[in-house]
Amino acid sequence: MSRASPPAAALRSALGALALAALAALLPSCGRAARSDADGRFLVGVSQANLTEPWRVAMTEEIREEAGRQRRLRMIYADAADSSARQIEDVRRLMGFGIDLLIVSPTEAGALTPIVREAYARIPVIVLDRAVEGYDYTLFIGPDNERLGREAGRVASGLLGRRGGNVLEIEGRSGSPPSLERSSGFREEIGKRADVRLFEPIVADWLRDRAEDELAARGPSLPPVDAVFAQNDAMAYGAWRAFRAAGRAGTAFIGIDGLPGPMGGIELVRKGILSATFTCPTGGKEAVGYAMDLLLKKEGIPKKIYLRPRLVTGESLAGGASSEARAGPGASPRRGPIVLGFAQVGAESEWRVANTKSIKSAAAKAGIELLFEDGKQLQGNQIAAIRSFIARKVDVIAFSPVVDSGWDEVLREAKEAGIPVILTDRRIGLKDDSLWLSFMGSDFVEEGRRAARWLVETLKDRDEVNIVELQGNPGSAPTIDRKLGFEEVIRDRPSYRIIASESGDFFRAQGYSVMKGILAAEGRRIDAVFSHNDDMAIGAIQAIKERGLKPGRDIVIVGVDGIKDAFKAMAAGEMNCSVECNPILGPQLMKAVQDYMAGKDLPIRMITSEGVFTAATARRDMIGREY
Ligand code: AHR
Repeated sequence: MSRASPPAAALRSALGALALAALAALLPSCGRAARSDADGRFLVGVSQANLTEPWRVAMTEEIREEAGRQRRLRMIYADAADSSARQIEDVRRLMGFGIDLLIVSPTEAGALTPIVREAYARIPVIVLDRAVEGYDYTLFIGPDNERLGREAGRVASGLLGRRGGNVLEIEGRSGSPPSLERSSGFREEIGKRADVRLFEPIVADWLRDRAEDELAARGPSLPPVDAVFAQNDAMAYGAWRAFRAAGRAGTAFIGIDGLPGPMGGIELVRKGILSATFTCPTGGKEAVGYAMDLLLKKEGIPKKIYLRPRLVTGESLAGGASSEARAGPGASPRRGPIVLGFAQVGAESEWRVANTKSIKSAAAKAGIELLFEDGKQLQGNQIAAIRSFIARKVDVIAFSPVVDSGWDEVLREAKEAGIPVILTDRRIGLKDDSLWLSFMGSDFVEEGRRAARWLVETLKDRDEVNIVELQGNPGSAPTIDRKLGFEEVIRDRPSYRIIASESGDFFRAQGYSVMKGILAAEGRRIDAVFSHNDDMAIGAIQAIKERGLKPGRDIVIVGVDGIKDAFKAMAAGEMNCSVECNPILGPQLMKAVQDYMAGKDLPIRMITSEGVFTAATARRDMIGREY
């Protein structure tokens, strides 16, 4: 069993004292309303899974240090000692002390989901590192574990060179999301090599000693191993110790965490014990920053933030070049404004118009010189625009890809020109994610799920539900992903059937013409319309009315976007639901550009926070909406 490392023991006693002191100060005010106290300070509870893993010790230390810089925060810490039951109690106890916001790093996703949902119903909740199931929290901050696994796979493949070889993976806690995702990314990458044999993994629960013991037990039966990928540095070090004790040589060890300090991943690489590791930002500092933003009710807080890992090798430590998209030129003295090139999809919908307006107004407000090109729905136009930005040597390029493939060449040109690319709104299918710096936009798959969940709940008493699907432009991320999410939810419900599915390219007029054709063919069989955006839904409403049917009653209509005209249609009883897709990405984009230019690391992905709107509250909800 692993012994807590000295820093952990010191931190635990410090936190223990802190927590006790905070509780003593609070006892008279137990159960107070969640608001700042007399001198404007807020109370934040921190529920940590354990203080035995060095990475968690570092996370908690980071939270403590950053909170110490925030005059308006008082903190209470709880260490669950890796017990889910205890962490549930910890969260309940923290709530009982009237905290204004909860930061929780769960032991396990499933076990902690109910109590996090309960807390979220009352106060903002920031989930750190390991997610919970669903979306019942305010903000998730953590690593992109699948990408970490893929990058570790690339490093392992590179270390094996042309000779190929045998690879062993050491997993953290079996079945935990981080472990599953890291493994998935790693195997996807390594699986590309026919000359690489991947052994049955070893599970070591993130612990150094467990990895050492497991390998010592299994070592003799193991054939030669050319590379070991351990899902954290502690287990990689344990594996290395076991191989050394068994007299094995010639094995490369790859880890994750890249912590500084004694026997942290950085030192293990410096000593040549590890061939590579990845810094995996703990998110502690970001959590405190966003906690303040939430408590001060600032706008534009994302729903999910995936932090950027950095590859650490002997070469990078020696100051060698790294192939990755580095943080910006830093605070180098600038002559004139930042120049941003933006290639837009087109002007196909009210959503797109609002998106363009947001980008232009945010650039003007930020003093950023914006070169804006309208792609008019054609990938060729967007590619030409990006090339023009490269030729004009802009500082940063951003675009919303009209389709999800075919960007490799132009993105390589931008990379060779040393110009970073930020994706907004729509992702691309490119797996070589070193070609773009950051993504900000929606989770389109979840939007599809939300549309289907609403429909299933609304029509649950029907024996059969025949659905018409109006798709967006073929090959685009929203079309692919919304369909994916919608079908995932209805897949196990045979009474829900998509009887017609055609593209209206996100245009209102095409939504009308496509629906008119489907009505002629299917007539009264149609029970519902699932439209990939509100514009096409509104076109379909016109066609339904012309057919002599009542939209919103004879045919239930659910769209995506949450545009003003959808609210008007819902208020008029002609539409039933709109799943929000937030186009107001301008402020986030400009902040990312400024952060990059200031040399800050950008998150790999930022997912916007969105809701679901129905006819029942449309009149109230539409008041004050920005688009
Ligand atoms: O990429 C977002 C989608 O593109 C919106 O849902 C749609 O209205 C727009 O055309």
